[in-house]
Amino acid sequence: MKIDTAELLTSCAQSVDFPDPGAPEVAFLGRSNVGKSSLINRLVRRKKLARTSSTPGKTRLIHFFAITGGSRELRMVDLPGYGWAKVSRRERGGWQQLVESYLQKRPPLCAAILLQDVRRDVSDDETLLLDWLAERGIFSLVAITKTDKLKPMRRAKRLRELRGQLEGLGDRVVATSAQTGEGMDALWRAILAAADERESSSLRKSPGSAK
Ligand code: GTP
Ligand code: MG
Repeated sequence: MKIDTAELLTSCAQSVDFPDPGAPEVAFLGRSNVGKSSLINRLVRRKKLARTSSTPGKTRLIHFFAITGGSRELRMVDLPGYGWAKVSRRERGGWQQLVESYLQKRPPLCAAILLQDVRRDVSDDETLLLDWLAERGIFSLVAITKTDKLKPMRRAKRLRELRGQLEGLGDRVVATSAQTGEGMDALWRAILAAADERESSSLRKSPGSAK
């Protein structure tokens, strides 16, 4: 998609601060350091829109970005990463509460993109999250990240292994790299299709609101 504007709308530590629902939202979730902020930056072609860090786990906020392009409006939602080695049970509970409060009741949410590092195996964290999303009828995609980090043979082997571990998701698994731009067109196609679907279903639900 051609991007006209991309800006940070707000960053929230609790659900009462979430912005009023507006344009369709796409959420990015995954382990800390997996590349969520980098992927958002690459998708909207802004180097420093979402903060990226080499000190994982610092951000415990939900960042909402407002994107416009042509006649389209969209929001991208950067969820805090999970899986830091040293966090207390209380902190873990805090993450879960914040993320669930977003995912559970957010009418504009049209797709959740779960990121998975190409060099790691899919863990229970990812499979539980995918099941959790499916149970709630939230459309999900998996973006395998950092594919540029591996040489072609190893990369192909890892992608086969990961697709095996993510059995059942089929073409909802996309190989990506924020460095080379691999997979961005495929992700955009899926995002825009999900956003269109959300908008047409909300028009069907409230026909009076159609202009
Ligand atoms: P948290 O916000 O801490 O949860 O991390 P995050 O998931 O937002 O990851 P972030 O985008 O900050 O990236 C973490 C590190 O991985 C940074 O040093 C990035 O430069 C690097 N990185 C992210 N994506 C890629 C990629 O596609 N290729 C390469 N080579 N490095 C990447
Ligand atoms: Mg980040």
